[in-house]
Amino acid sequence: MDASSDTAGNAPPPARVAQDLLAWYDAHARDLPWRARPGSPAPDPYRVWLSEVMLQQTTVGAVKAYFATFTTRWPTVEALATAPEGDVMAAWAGLGYYARARNLLACAREVTAAGGQFPDTEEALRVLPGLGAYTAAAVAAIAFGRRAVVVDANVERVVARLFEIEEPLPGARPAIRIAADAITPDLRAGDFAQAMMDLGATVCTPRAPRCLLCPLSRDCAGRASGEPERLPVKAPKKAKAVRRGRAFWIERDHGGEAQVWLVRRADKGMLGGMRALPDDGWAARADGSGEGPLHGPWENAGRVAHVFTHFALELSLAVYVGERFEALEGSAGEWWPLDRLEDAGLPTLFAKAASLALATEREDA
Ligand code: ADE
Repeated sequence: MDASSDTAGNAPPPARVAQDLLAWYDAHARDLPWRARPGSPAPDPYRVWLSEVMLQQTTVGAVKAYFATFTTRWPTVEALATAPEGDVMAAWAGLGYYARARNLLACAREVTAAGGQFPDTEEALRVLPGLGAYTAAAVAAIAFGRRAVVVDANVERVVARLFEIEEPLPGARPAIRIAADAITPDLRAGDFAQAMMDLGATVCTPRAPRCLLCPLSRDCAGRASGEPERLPVKAPKKAKAVRRGRAFWIERDHGGEAQVWLVRRADKGMLGGMRALPDDGWAARADGSGEGPLHGPWENAGRVAHVFTHFALELSLAVYVGERFEALEGSAGEWWPLDRLEDAGLPTLFAKAASLALATEREDA
């Protein structure tokens, strides 16, 4: 099966697509900190790998500051490999999908143990911790100039329109991959992949594609159909399950310093290994009625909502208003100074809960 037979006469001429897209990229590539200029020698594989791991499920805008922090603090894969896991998790806080951070460190250690060079083929990259099909293809193409078919959500959209692929996602993925393969050039595959991403992010946008600015418009079957924005078709989403939970804010004054009680979450499971507020086990249960680490009294400070991949969480926040903290002594956790709370590396869910607690305190003051 090839793209032209699969897409019934809608196939654009592959060489012309690649040529038009690369010419556009030469003039319009976004200047991003992990990139080489179009046509220049490939950038450091460490930076390419790090950026691609960060960019999964996250926007370019959100990643830039994290990329700067990581590369300043850990400029090489060897430097990252020696970092304590807690430091890496804390530096990752806010980017989400924390298994990526644990895999990042595992991968850095594996590459370092093997001599410090990333492997330069898609197959060899694919077996490293955390490198799925997308990341392996992206690193092989961008860092090593290998011909690899790189398909992320932006590329999916561009290709579904270009070839007018009507089948809904996710079922359309195999056809989209075949079509993307058909237009990927042998040379400059890394620039080509990033050009597709840039086109998807800036021109072939989800709701209002700017076809008048698009270098591929003359070959785009979606545009010819008059309604490119309806592609890719998406299968209706299942409504997410809703879980409820409680988190607990326990604050004390310790010799004039305000402190809050933080715990570290179990390595396995949701937000594994991250620092957090104590909670009632919402990750495993779902009714939000669980007990706190002290007997009370508690006051309700309101709720925060957070959406995870497989469920939405409504977390209510209970604030301890008693004076008896002794029961915490000897339990796993630590008193953390409130004026350094930003350094605790709380994941976004608990950062939201902390903001709520602090806003409530200000109202009460
Ligand atoms: N999204 C994922 N990888 C990217 C890259 N290299 N450039 C721009 N956006 C991206």
